[in-house]
Amino acid sequence: DSPVAVLCSGGDAPGMNAFLRAIVRLGLNRHKVPVLGIRGGYRGLVRAAKQVNGEADELVRLKQEITANTGNRGLIDAKMSIIQMDHASVSGIMGKGGTILGSARCLDFHKPEVRRSAIQLLENLGVRALVVAGGDGSLTGAKLLAEESNLKIIGVPSTIDNDLQFTEMALGVDTAVHTLVWAVDHFIDTARSHRRVMVLETMGRESGDLARMAALASGAEMVITPEGGPLTEEAMIAYAEEIESAMTRGRGHAIVLIAEGVKFDPPQSRNGAYILRDAFQKYFQREGAPFQDLEVRPSVLGHLQRGGHTTPGDCILAARFAEEAWKAILDPNGSNGITALQHNKATIVPFGCPDLPERALSSVAMDRLHDDLSSW
Ligand code: F6P
Repeated sequence: DSPVAVLCSGGDAPGMNAFLRAIVRLGLNRHKVPVLGIRGGYRGLVRAAKQVNGEADELVRLKQEITANTGNRGLIDAKMSIIQMDHASVSGIMGKGGTILGSARCLDFHKPEVRRSAIQLLENLGVRALVVAGGDGSLTGAKLLAEESNLKIIGVPSTIDNDLQFTEMALGVDTAVHTLVWAVDHFIDTARSHRRVMVLETMGRESGDLARMAALASGAEMVITPEGGPLTEEAMIAYAEEIESAMTRGRGHAIVLIAEGVKFDPPQSRNGAYILRDAFQKYFQREGAPFQDLEVRPSVLGHLQRGGHTTPGDCILAARFAEEAWKAILDPNGSNGITALQHNKATIVPFGCPDLPERALSSVAMDRLHDDLSSW
């Protein structure tokens, strides 16, 4: 039976492993369709295409290699770019962060001739559908493959940024928020002991969703997101005044989340957490200020947000997305598309579909809730 191929692309997201387990197990157990795993994202696919290079002998050799190195054996061998997935290859991976197939960003995939070689290889391997788990850039690559081939292409939103507006949630967001709440709790312990202000920078690219959700779930006093526009000197002073006034009312510490996508006016090249620290510190130490010994400590949380044990919420979403992906793959009249969570229903939407007019957790609604919950 012609197989389905799956790959993870771009920045890894928690839930990718749970998704791989679900896509493989549903394929083998429910639909009796074999699944090929492509290692290292589009880059692995391109590497395999280059190795074969249109040579019939090389194609036969690759096919033999794929079947010989099934499952875990293929996963261990670093040279293998495509492997036959079996039950064992996805055993015990559900809650593990990262992706057993590996992931990569592949700039080469912007070139049409590179995509053509990848399509050619998939067709030569008899692949009927390709499933791509990734974020914005990876799903754009999937859209191009869908336009340029007769293969069925299914995208699966997987990014901690939650910046894909056609789905309420992407895979990985729930876990990253969970990790951020854990981190904030740790920073609160030390902030309270020293009566300090902690400025914590979250990931999220151009979107403030991750920071906002983390602020709502952790009770962080302030959250600054790119959607508010570039941050001026005056705006930073206004935030500092707010903190100082809370301190005057007896508050002992403050946690400020700033999303990495926040821009400054005038533009700055350093991380936002450090710029904000300097601005706050300068304000608190001005002449005659009431809390001149109030210290500010910045921290760029970085890649810890991408790892760790996957939450049950993400594991369940992974299973729901995998089920939708299979429905779309097997539907003879169905077209290419991306799995999405809309109004709490897992579904398939076409590539390039419009944004949800209002996501259940819209940024405006979250900002309002946070404002009212954290009047400190
Ligand atoms: O898109 C996920 C993400 O973690 C962003 O939040 C962040 O800006 C970026 O990837 C970091 O990329 P890299 O892992 O390549 O440094």
